[in-house]
Amino acid sequence: MSPRTLVAGNWKMNGLKASSAMLEELARAHPSPVCDVLVCPPSTLVAAFAGGAFPIGGQDCHWKASGAHTGDISAEMLADAGASAVIIGHSERRADHGETDAMVSNKTEAAWRAGLVAVVCVGETEAERDAGETLARIGSQLAASIPDGATAANLVVAYEPVWAIGTGRTPSLEEIAEVHDFMRKTLSDRFGADIAGGVRLLYGGSVKPSNAAEIFAIKNVNGALVGGASLKAEDFGGIISAAG
Ligand code: PGA
Repeated sequence: MSPRTLVAGNWKMNGLKASSAMLEELARAHPSPVCDVLVCPPSTLVAAFAGGAFPIGGQDCHWKASGAHTGDISAEMLADAGASAVIIGHSERRADHGETDAMVSNKTEAAWRAGLVAVVCVGETEAERDAGETLARIGSQLAASIPDGATAANLVVAYEPVWAIGTGRTPSLEEIAEVHDFMRKTLSDRFGADIAGGVRLLYGGSVKPSNAAEIFAIKNVNGALVGGASLKAEDFGGIISAAG
């Protein structure tokens, strides 16, 4: 049986307290969604939004529980604020903040230590795809970014081709299927078929209401990580509806 579809919204550096109105509108339009929904606002809004209609996640965490790390927040702090999950290793973190696979792995361990679901992101650049290195890149990221101890409940993996994020471009359905089949097999080889079969594999990168249904129909796709389209109730709601 396939795991329950997860539609996760990554608000990135967008959203103010008044954005709660968007979540209220979404909840009114989708009182009992057919899929799991996760909203990842900026960390300033986690406490304000937690306990509302949708589970709330962070967008990053430090790997230490506390200490002299100005500007950082820990997984324990996110959990304390009411988050149930955290995105880790997003390509914008990897590119803008020099996050390595080893750091992503440490952050994932921190998420698990704090009882959070880790949404670990992987994805190739356009140059890597053009060079035919996509699967090798995804394989090495999965191997080095995910620590031992993964379970179907504590891990979600998001495949986000860097060149598809915020660009309106997406891989073909066959290309998405190829990567997702590869990820399932790679996780299965390492963690066993039972665990790997239950880990949600999300596709992310220019998902919108008009392409969500065909992406969700791909065999090893169990949901989406949505950036731009998660900021508007109508668009995010359209993607949630497409999961049904
Ligand atoms: P996008 O972003 O949906 O705006 O392409 C996806 C992401 O970065 O998670």
